[in-house]
Amino acid sequence: MASRIPQSFIDDLLDRTDIVDLVDGHVKLKKTGRNYSACCPFHKEKTPSFSVSPDKQFYYCFGCGAGGNAIGFLMQLANLNFPEAVEELAGKAGLTVPKDDSITSKAASAASQAKTQARNQAYDILNQASQYYQSQLRRHPDRQKAVTYLKGRGLNGQIAQRFGVGYAPTGWQNLMQELAPKAEQEQGLIDAGMVVEKEENKRRYDRFRDRIMFPIKDYKGRIIAFGGRVLGDDKPKYLNSPETVVFHKQKELYGLYEARQHERNLKRIMVVEGYMDVVALAQHNINYAVATLGTSTSSFHLERIFKLVSEVVFCFDGDAAGLKAADRAMHTCLPYMQDGRQARFLLLPDGEDPDSLVRQEGNDKLTARIVDATPLSDFLFQRLGQDLDPHNLEHRAKLATDASPLIAIIPKGIMRSMMHARLSKITGLDKDTLAELSALKVPTPATRSEPNPTPAANTQASNSSQAPNMGPAGDSDQNSTHDYADYHITEANPDIADSIQHWHDEHPHAQPSEDPSLLLRQNFSAVLPKVQNPAHAAIRIILRHPEVVEHVDEIPSHLAELKMQDAGVLTQLLNTVQAMHKALKRWPNPAELHIECATWDAWPMLRQLAAMESLLPQGNYPQQLDEAISRLLGHHFDERFNQLIHLASQPNADANTKKQLKDLLKEKEELQNRLKSRQ
Ligand code: UTP
Ligand code: MN
Repeated sequence: MASRIPQSFIDDLLDRTDIVDLVDGHVKLKKTGRNYSACCPFHKEKTPSFSVSPDKQFYYCFGCGAGGNAIGFLMQLANLNFPEAVEELAGKAGLTVPKDDSITSKAASAASQAKTQARNQAYDILNQASQYYQSQLRRHPDRQKAVTYLKGRGLNGQIAQRFGVGYAPTGWQNLMQELAPKAEQEQGLIDAGMVVEKEENKRRYDRFRDRIMFPIKDYKGRIIAFGGRVLGDDKPKYLNSPETVVFHKQKELYGLYEARQHERNLKRIMVVEGYMDVVALAQHNINYAVATLGTSTSSFHLERIFKLVSEVVFCFDGDAAGLKAADRAMHTCLPYMQDGRQARFLLLPDGEDPDSLVRQEGNDKLTARIVDATPLSDFLFQRLGQDLDPHNLEHRAKLATDASPLIAIIPKGIMRSMMHARLSKITGLDKDTLAELSALKVPTPATRSEPNPTPAANTQASNSSQAPNMGPAGDSDQNSTHDYADYHITEANPDIADSIQHWHDEHPHAQPSEDPSLLLRQNFSAVLPKVQNPAHAAIRIILRHPEVVEHVDEIPSHLAELKMQDAGVLTQLLNTVQAMHKALKRWPNPAELHIECATWDAWPMLRQLAAMESLLPQGNYPQQLDEAISRLLGHHFDERFNQLIHLASQPNADANTKKQLKDLLKEKEELQNRLKSRQ
C-alpha cells in the first residue's frame, strides 16, 4: 500500500513556498501590476500569456490553459508525480516528508487486513451462491422453465456450464436459508450484495428471485457479482449486484475470464453491450467477446484489454444510443492508440444486437463483419464529418476545430501523423494552424468526471488540456459509475445547450450556417461554442486581446439589459478592462485580465471562450469587436421594436408609444450609418 502524505504537511509545505520564487527559478518572471508574467514554459509562444499570482499563489497560462499551485507546477514542469513533486519541494524548503509513522502504519495495516478478510468472505459467499444457482438449474422443481428459456435463446448445456449460468428460484429467502441458516450469518450475504435489507422494517430477502443468473468473474476467475435476467418481460430486465468490496462494475468486463480460459493467446477482444451477447457469440464459436456491465467503456477496461491484445473491436447497436456509446468509446480509446494497436468500430444494423445477428447469420458472416469493422481513424472522420459539407469553408473550419484536439490525444506516432495529414488535406489548413487548434480543450467524458487511470503514454494534449492532479492520489475504489444515460451533450454542458436554445428563441429565421445547433450534432464539438451569439464573439476577442477595448468609444448603457445571453457579462468585462486601463495606465495583458475575472461566476464560460483561437485568417480585432457590439445593439433594437410595434398596434395606443417608436427608428438609422461607415 502506498503511504500517504498527510494533508497537514502539504498545507504547511505550500505555506512555506512562494510560487513566484519557484517559478522564477525556471522561467524569468516580469512584474506586471500585481502579478508576474512570462512566456509559458509549457507551450511555444512569442508573447507572454503565462502569469503567476503572488496573492493567490497560483500560475496560469492563458494560452494553453495550464495552471495550478506550486506542486502542480513542478509536476508539470519536470513530469513528476505527486509524491515526487512534494519531495522536491520539501527539499527546497528544508523539510522532510513524513514517512507514515508507526501508529498510522499499524492502523493502515490493520485496516488493510480487515479489507482482505471482508473480500475473502465475499468471494466465498458468492462462490457458494453460484454453486447453489447452478444446482437449482439441475434440480429445482421449476427448472424446466429456466432450461426452456435458455434453449429458446439458442444456448446448450455446455455453454451454460462454461459460463456457470444458473437459476435463482422464485421465493424471498431461498439463498438466505441455504447459505445463512443462522441469522448472524446474514450480514455476509448483505455485504456481498446477495441479500437486501429493507430500510423501513429491516426485513431481509434475496436480491435475485426467479432469474437466470450470470456469474461475473474477475481476471482470476473469482466470482465477484451476478447479473440476473428475468425469464419474461418484467422490469428490470437485468438486475446486477450492487458495488461491493469485490465488485466495481466500471472496471469489470463480463466474459473476459471465460475468453482467456478458452484461448490464452487472444488476438483480439470485441466489446459488446450485453451478457447474452457474450454467451450467444460463444455458442457460435466467437470466443473473444466481453461485455461492459451496463456502463460505457472506461479507461480501466481499455488498460486491461490492451494488456492482453493489440486489437479491440467495439460492437454496438446501430441506433442513436449505440452511436453515442461508440463516440464515447472512441474518445476513451484515443490516448491508448500508440502504434501497433488497433481499435475498430462495428455498428450493427438497426434493431440487431450481436446475439440476434449471430443467430440469424451465423459465425462466418458475423466474423466477416468483425474483420471488416471501421478503423478508428476512419470512424473519427466519419463521425465528425457527418452532416458537414467539405466544400463549405465554415464546415471545414468546424471539422478542423473538432478533430485537432482529438487527434492530439493520440500518442505520438505514425497513426497521429497520418491523421493530421488527412485532416490537413480535407480542411486545407496547414500544420501550424492545426497545431494551434490542438490546444483547444475538449471537455471529454474522461476529463469531466471519470477518475480514470492515466494512460502510460504522455501526450502533448495531456499537457495542455488537463490540469495537473493537485491532491494526493485518491482512492480509485471510490469511482462513481457512468451509464450511457450520463453522457448526453445537453447534460454534459447545460450552459451551452441553454445558450443555443436561447439563440433559437431569438433567431427564428437564422441562416442554417449560423445555426449553433450544428454544434450539437457531434458529441465532441457540442461544448465548443464556435458559432456564437455576438456577446460571446465579443467576449472572446476581449479576453485574448484586451487592448481592443481602446477602440470602443462608449459602452452602450443598455447592453446589460439585453436579453441576449451573456450580454451582461460582456458589459462587465468591458468595464473591467477600462478600469484596469485606468489603474495600470496601460491596457492589461490577457493574463492580467484573466486573474481579474477568475473569481467571477461566469469564469468557466469565459475560460471556455478564451480557449478558442479565432479561425478568421488574420484578426482585425477592433472591427470584429465593433461588429459584434453592433449586432448586439441590433438585437436590442429588435427587442424594443417588436415590443413597441405590438403596443402601437393596440387600439388604445398612446402618443408616447408612437413617439418612442419614432425615436427608435431614428436610432436604427444611426445604427445603420454606423455599420456602413465601418465597412
Ligand atoms: P439490453 O437491453 O441491450 O439487453 O442490455 P440485451 O443484452 O439485448 O438482453 P436480452 O438479449 O434482451 O437478454 C444490455 C446490457 O445492459 C445492462 C445489462 O448489462 C445488459 O446485458 N442492462 C440492461 C441492465 O443492467 N439492466 C437492464 O434492465 C437492462
Ligand atoms: Mn439482446
